[in-house]
Amino acid sequence: MVSPHVVALLSGVLAVSEHTTPEERIRAAFADPEFLWGSATAAYQVEGAWNRDGRQPSIWDDFCHQVDKPCSGDSGDVADDFYDRYAQDIDMLANLGFNSLRLSISWPRIFPLGQDGLHHPNPLGIKFYKNVLSQLAEKGVTPMVTIYHWDLPNDLDWLSDTVVPEYVKYAEFLFETFPEIKNWATFNEPLSFCPGGYQGGFWPPSIQSDFLHLQCGHHVLQAHAAAVKMYRNRFQQKAGGKIGIVIDYKWAYPWNASSADDIRSAQLHRDFHLGWWADPIFLTGDYPHSLRNFYGDNLPTFTKDEITSLRGSADFYGLNTYGGKFVKFEQNGATPFKEINPCVPGDLPDGPPAGECGASTWLWINPPAMRHYLEYVHDRYGPNEIFITEFGVDMPGEGTMTVKESVHDILRQDYYRNYLDQAATAKRESGVPIKGAFAWSLLDNLEWKDGFKCRFGITHVNFTSQKRTPKGSAKWFQQLLNSNAILA
Ligand code: BGC
Repeated sequence: MVSPHVVALLSGVLAVSEHTTPEERIRAAFADPEFLWGSATAAYQVEGAWNRDGRQPSIWDDFCHQVDKPCSGDSGDVADDFYDRYAQDIDMLANLGFNSLRLSISWPRIFPLGQDGLHHPNPLGIKFYKNVLSQLAEKGVTPMVTIYHWDLPNDLDWLSDTVVPEYVKYAEFLFETFPEIKNWATFNEPLSFCPGGYQGGFWPPSIQSDFLHLQCGHHVLQAHAAAVKMYRNRFQQKAGGKIGIVIDYKWAYPWNASSADDIRSAQLHRDFHLGWWADPIFLTGDYPHSLRNFYGDNLPTFTKDEITSLRGSADFYGLNTYGGKFVKFEQNGATPFKEINPCVPGDLPDGPPAGECGASTWLWINPPAMRHYLEYVHDRYGPNEIFITEFGVDMPGEGTMTVKESVHDILRQDYYRNYLDQAATAKRESGVPIKGAFAWSLLDNLEWKDGFKCRFGITHVNFTSQKRTPKGSAKWFQQLLNSNAILA
């Protein structure tokens, strides 16, 4: 007689081997009816209506409007006109079979600066988001809402102490106004906007410095902890919601896999890029030791109370990832490692690998990077829930393609299939608690500084006529999510 243990083992093996295609493996791994299958957007990238109905300009409006046109000659003035077209876009999302939308609320639209020098609720902004939420509810689509996706009101600055209470006031108003939202993320990718705005200076507010990004990050973490504390104390029980944060990372492989120095550098890279945020929130309440050792007094310190509030201050981990990179040991640099990005011209002696780069040169397509990041977060931080809050790719040359060429997005379909297959493996083999996955992005949109030429959408957008055309990747999702779907 075969023991129950062997039967269980065999059925596990059968369960995997039965699922021979990636799609079957993905469906099997994420079969939970509560799983959030979504697509993601962000206010400034899609809404448009930049100066309508009482919206205050954000730092991105000011930046893109500069005479030297830093957003590749484009701006979020109109973008996808989601402000007027949200109902059709939500219908389209639901028709594709998604049950969730990740979106952000525009702080300058809903809580702009008043004549009295204070920020106040804007009734027309509230009305817009209430309409969006009722449309989602009507279509059975669950919102996952980011409180801050980079569009800071243009009177504020992440370097100033006042930004923390301003953020908390804004978050309090959101929690009061939208009890129907059950999934909140405090911030999207601080690793992008702090270094981009305050170290490299290629993003607003265009400050180049050695250490000010650390000050930005410190305020972000303080604001996150204070908002979460308030939500838990006053709103969470009644609303029955959860709150987390979205942290991006590109898995970094040691350049030489047998070099102890490169292996150590890869760990430092993880500390400096993701431990910077995740250690305080999911582990210790404080920065990793390696950051303190390297930056010394240039890294601000938390008070004891702040450490207590930070530790454990997220109900879920929002994980964004797009690609991978390599790191080498580096002495005496601005960081204790040197990054090598295979898709940046000149970084690899033989040139970028064919077929593995997005249009964005930072995007080296590497499906195993998804699994590595998921498993690392699971092993080191052990959050109860992980949502893959963004992953996606812009196809090289897509900016100048015809609609017909753009919708034939084989590279993107392969990307989603392979990345989700890796996520499914992480769930199946390592028990990573993945509770949702959001494709970036529902629509081609304003890709920040790269304007409209880098197209990440699963839907093609004609930015003149605003016509939407679902791409092959959207139809791939439709088929994945509804195996009986009849594809046009
Ligand atoms: C951001 C999005 C952005 C995407 C592609 C993420 O870093 O959250 O706003 O459009 O990557 O660059």
